Amino acid sequence: MATAFAPGKCILFGEHAVVYGHPAVAVAIDAGVEVKLDFSDEWGIKNSYYANEYMKYQEDKNPHIHYIINDVFNYDGPPLRINIESNLFSAAGLGSSAALSNAMGAALHKLTKPEGKIDRIELAKIGHSAEANAQSGRASPTDSATSSLGGCVVVSGKKNDDWEHVFDTSLMTPEGERKWSIHSIDLHEKISNSWLVLGFTGEAAPTGDMVSGVASRLKKNPALYDEMKAIENITKAGLKALELGNLEAVGIAMNSCHEKLKILGVSTPALDNMVSMTRQHSFGSKLTGAGGGGCMVALTSNPERVAQEIEICGGRPLISKFGSKGAYLREN
Ligand code: MEV
Repeated sequence: MATAFAPGKCILFGEHAVVYGHPAVAVAIDAGVEVKLDFSDEWGIKNSYYANEYMKYQEDKNPHIHYIINDVFNYDGPPLRINIESNLFSAAGLGSSAALSNAMGAALHKLTKPEGKIDRIELAKIGHSAEANAQSGRASPTDSATSSLGGCVVVSGKKNDDWEHVFDTSLMTPEGERKWSIHSIDLHEKISNSWLVLGFTGEAAPTGDMVSGVASRLKKNPALYDEMKAIENITKAGLKALELGNLEAVGIAMNSCHEKLKILGVSTPALDNMVSMTRQHSFGSKLTGAGGGGCMVALTSNPERVAQEIEICGGRPLISKFGSKGAYLREN
């Protein structure tokens, strides 16, 4: 038996723009996905999102898992019983599929190579390729790297010496080859002591569809590339504020980022409503992740009040600290 846990993530700045090589900043959150693997007589899967009992394992219904078992590990061992437990909202912009891929990759590595140590960079790359495979070849490594490394991660089209460089990666997308450098930054104490409150609209939005939607809007209206550049400037300002522990400035950057994401066409009335409502008791708030539903995030020192505001808007809140630890194996 092998069990692994990988956290979800919250993008503070730069979603969508990062797919085109602009920087993004993301933190690992407390909630995540646990995958437990057992050898068995027949293939079975239990996913707490959908069911309380084992069901027949269907490859097409589990694209990330199938890709990892077959394409990454070329697994030809005995059938597996795959038990997935998640406390993340699904298809909600919190990196649930990257967390699932990373936890699956770590657990399968443990099961097939019990003596081998888990390599976080390798794991992040496995997660990224599984995401890209499920998202028509367009995915940045943001979700998988944040879930694997934990803490606060900056993903950027170019290596930047201001931050600790961790690894580089690339992907062939329908728009050509993209390259990213993944960095890690330390969070200022004031930031680590504040709270993120995520609010789920209840509307699931597959990331692949949202990313393709932005790609086709960019094709029709190339002026939108200027908005990507504007998001980059906001991301850089937000990052500086994060490093200085300036909560007000982080909040202003979050608010500005939301406005730009609206222009890219990825916000919804429910997100806009929760974002404006939660600004009363937070430093700033914005949609997070792919949008089209999914989640918003607020930075606050009053998490209970913000959670209440989210509930009043009909959303489901999730309170998290900043920068949880990255993927790890659990004792069975
Ligand atoms: C998804 O969490 C964030 C996007 O930027 C897509 C990606 O980075 O692959 C929308």
